[in-house]
Amino acid sequence: MTDLDSIVEDAGAAFSVAITPADLENAKAQFLGKSGRITELMKGLAALPVEEKKSRGAAINQAKQGVEAALTVRRQALADAELQLQLKAEALDVSLPGRQRPQGGLHPVSLTLERIEAIFGSMGFDVAQGPEIETDWFNFTALNTPEDHPARSMHDTFYVEGGTDTAPNLLRTHTSPMQIRYAVQHVKKHRALIDAGGAMPEIRVIAPGRTYRVDSDATHSPMFHQCEGLWIGENVSFKDLKVVFTDFCRTFFESDDLVLRFRPSFFPFTEPSAEIDIQFQAGPPAGRWLEVAGSGQVHPNVVRNMGLDPEKYIGFAFGMGPDRLTMLRYGVNDLRLFFDGDIRFLSQFQ
Ligand code: DAH
Repeated sequence: MTDLDSIVEDAGAAFSVAITPADLENAKAQFLGKSGRITELMKGLAALPVEEKKSRGAAINQAKQGVEAALTVRRQALADAELQLQLKAEALDVSLPGRQRPQGGLHPVSLTLERIEAIFGSMGFDVAQGPEIETDWFNFTALNTPEDHPARSMHDTFYVEGGTDTAPNLLRTHTSPMQIRYAVQHVKKHRALIDAGGAMPEIRVIAPGRTYRVDSDATHSPMFHQCEGLWIGENVSFKDLKVVFTDFCRTFFESDDLVLRFRPSFFPFTEPSAEIDIQFQAGPPAGRWLEVAGSGQVHPNVVRNMGLDPEKYIGFAFGMGPDRLTMLRYGVNDLRLFFDGDIRFLSQFQ
């Protein structure tokens, strides 16, 4: 074997053990680099006599081409291997099942709230939202429930920081504070008209939202929902309350002959007051009455706290329980199911 043949053979061997492109470049340098073996032989040509130079030169060139060919083959092999690896790593198994993106849906109580808003919206009621942290004034005092009023004890509540020592802030125990908040804004907007003795546009609003009380069992949860309703004008009577609420319940439960009962009751912010029961034939025992709301004619003191003259303005209010309505509509018997977040329960409403 000539020295040139062995160089080509060595190059082939060196290239074949290179497993990365960097290895291969290093191996190439040993033969074709500035002081590589082929390059050194080329440099040596200068010292040869002319006639030898030619043939030796041609032989070295041939060896060089041999080295370059081996290099090309190895480069290609490495590139192929690299590609194969990449293809393997990125392989898609098209027979795998697709990734599921489960369809979410509205919570049953949200469905009820949407329904309430749609029905009252169709009767011309505005929808208002208010703060869940309330002041003593809006939650109690403005609603004719002064400090030490016995009715306050029905609302065992969560007091929070803020307010004053005698009137701390609290998580609202009902949505009734929204009666005052909404009415005060409305009156402010129409103050000039009212003072000029003009006809104030009626106050007609519902205020759904979260409310809080220290209470917890199958039918009470510390956080629950209420929806307040308020209609104030110059000639809005208890009769209107009965018509509006009956219409609402019949639409909500999709039953034209649903029977309601207005049972005399007491709330500080209404006089007279009534609790509203619906007769439920659907579930046993037949003819059972279920309370769905408190209501009444808005008390003159409350009308005054709205900034209106109770001699001129009159109306009704109600506060209902959307959680209870949801339980009745879907036949759910434990309120806590609404707040457990169990997907097996919630998915049944989609
Ligand atoms: N806020 C009362 C409660 O939570 C319910 C209520 C009763 C609201 C009578 C009213 C009403 O607007 O007129 O017990």
